[in-house]
Amino acid sequence: MDTQQFDAAAIDAAARALESGALVAFPTETVYGLGADAENPAAVAAIYAAKGRPQDHPVIVHLAPEAPLDYWACDIPPQAQALAAAFWPGPLTMILKRAPNIPDAVSGGQDTVGLRCPAHPVALALLRAFKGGKGGVAAPSANKFGHVSPTLAEHVQQEFGSDGSVAMVLDGGPSQVGIESTIVDLSRLDTHGPVLLRPGQISAEAIAAVIDQMPAAPDAAAPRASGTLESHYAPHTPVAMQERATLLDTVAALHGAGRKVALIHMSDMPATHAALRLPAAPDGFAHALYAALRAMDGQGADVILVEAPPQGGDWLGVNDRLRRAAHGSTGIVHGLLNSQAKV
Ligand code: TXA
Ligand code: MG
Repeated sequence: MDTQQFDAAAIDAAARALESGALVAFPTETVYGLGADAENPAAVAAIYAAKGRPQDHPVIVHLAPEAPLDYWACDIPPQAQALAAAFWPGPLTMILKRAPNIPDAVSGGQDTVGLRCPAHPVALALLRAFKGGKGGVAAPSANKFGHVSPTLAEHVQQEFGSDGSVAMVLDGGPSQVGIESTIVDLSRLDTHGPVLLRPGQISAEAIAAVIDQMPAAPDAAAPRASGTLESHYAPHTPVAMQERATLLDTVAALHGAGRKVALIHMSDMPATHAALRLPAAPDGFAHALYAALRAMDGQGADVILVEAPPQGGDWLGVNDRLRRAAHGSTGIVHGLLNSQAKV
């Protein structure tokens, strides 16, 4: 697969590749996406195959700013128009009732569709070049199912570089936001009100300020979004969260037990090997998080210990991703301290 710098010729080649049914990875302001023509079921199926993703998981359709919403969705509530006006282009995905002409494949068979207009200039240029700006590009994050999302073109290369499934990657530099878009479900306003399916940089409060109604937390019994599965966004090395107060003692105990620790922290602390310090503010932490998890995954450590960020409003998206990254590793620190290290 080719990695191409952003220029007019690369955008044109990428748009033609998408039109021919090929997969193209492209940058967005949140994470890199693995794109296909949303109206070509075979191309959409190729995304699922490349990612190793279950067929019943819907993908987000990315639209140019000028694309008419009512081609993709029906029964569009005024709240959707208001949110699009307020936040698009930007890191917000809206779930709406799917228009009858839109293929099943993008929605995993559901009667809804996820729509988003991304803010990255390369994504916008691609969406405007593809089918004359009238098409939709179905794109999940450009990673294998359940793994950490890519925030650099080279991360996409690491995920798909050798398998031939992706025709090209457009390189647009590091993704500014760094975690996936906020997802708000507006498809069942009458019965459920607005529902926040996935927290992100655009907060529930910011949405409420536009539509005069606070989105509810999702119903735990109905995980409609793969990004809302309990285990997701995970590196191969186990991840554990640790409060600041006990972080250094835990590192020392693990070292004492002969364990190798990779540390991601945000507060000041004495230098240890394999430590990365991230900015102590939500936007900066989110921006750097996935690259940090990937870097620490390459350290051959027994565990990636992450200093638990504060709870509360603007940290919601980061805490959600960290909780899911750590989900499969419950009890890992205890286990490492209480079993013999391999020598
Ligand atoms: O920031 C993002 O949203 C990135 C970039 C590439 O745009 N995309 C992304 O896609 O994170 P993906 O597929 O990795 O996650 C999209 C989430 C999934 O959890 C999916 O289940 C959910 O959106 N989703 C998409 N369409 C949906 C629908 N109709 N109903 C419910 N959930 C939906
Ligand atoms: Mg994903």
